[in-house]
Amino acid sequence: MKKIAVLVGSNRKESVNLKFARALEKLAAGRLAFDYLDLSVLPMYNDDHMDPFPETARSMKSRIEAADGVLLVTPEYNRSVPPLLKNAIDWASRPYGKNSWVAKPAAIVGASPGVIGTAAAQIHLRSIMVGLGTVLMGRPEVYLHMKPGLIDDRNNITDPETEAFLRGFIDNLTDWVLAEKRAAA
Ligand code: FNR
Repeated sequence: MKKIAVLVGSNRKESVNLKFARALEKLAAGRLAFDYLDLSVLPMYNDDHMDPFPETARSMKSRIEAADGVLLVTPEYNRSVPPLLKNAIDWASRPYGKNSWVAKPAAIVGASPGVIGTAAAQIHLRSIMVGLGTVLMGRPEVYLHMKPGLIDDRNNITDPETEAFLRGFIDNLTDWVLAEKRAAA
C-alpha cells in the first residue's frame, strides 16, 4: 500500500476540509494509507529560528520525504491559501538546499461552503507547488462545494455522482504515485 502524507490547511475541529480528507481516505482504503500531518504544531516561519531547526518541522519534513506522495487539502481564505498551510509548505522547503518537496508526487483538492469550491486558492497553490518541484497531478481538478449532508457522519459521500467522480480522483492519484515510483526505480 502506498503512503500519502496529507496536509489539511485547517485545524478547526469542524473543518470541512478535514471531513473531505476523511471521505477521500475511505474511498482509498486498501490502496493508499493516509498519514495526517499536524500543521498546528509548527511555529510561524522565521529565518532567525533555523538553528536549531525546530523538531516539529524536522519531523514533518521526514514524514513528507518518507511518503510515496502528498495530498494537499486546502480551504480558501480571501481567494488564496490559508496561512496554516502556507507556513507548513515554507518550513518543508527549508533549510535552503534541503527542500523536501523536490520530485514528490503531489495532488491538490479543496472544499468550501462557497460555490467556487476553492478554485481561486488552488490556482495559487498549484503555482507554489510546481515552483517547489513537486510532480503535480494536473487532473482531475477537484473543487468541492461542501453542501450540508454531502458527507455523512461516517465519512461517506452521499451523492452518487460526486462519489463516482472522487473515486476517479483516487484512481488517478494511485496511478500517479505508482508511475512516479516506476520512473524513479
Ligand atoms: C473564508 N472563506 C472563504 N470561502 C471561499 O470560498 N472563498 C474565500 O475567499 C473565503 N475567504 C475566507 C477568509 C477567511 C479569513 C475565512 C476564515 C474564511 C470561508 C471558508 O471557505 C470556510 O470558513 C471553510 O469552512 C474553511 O475551511 P475549513 O476550516 O472548514 O476546512
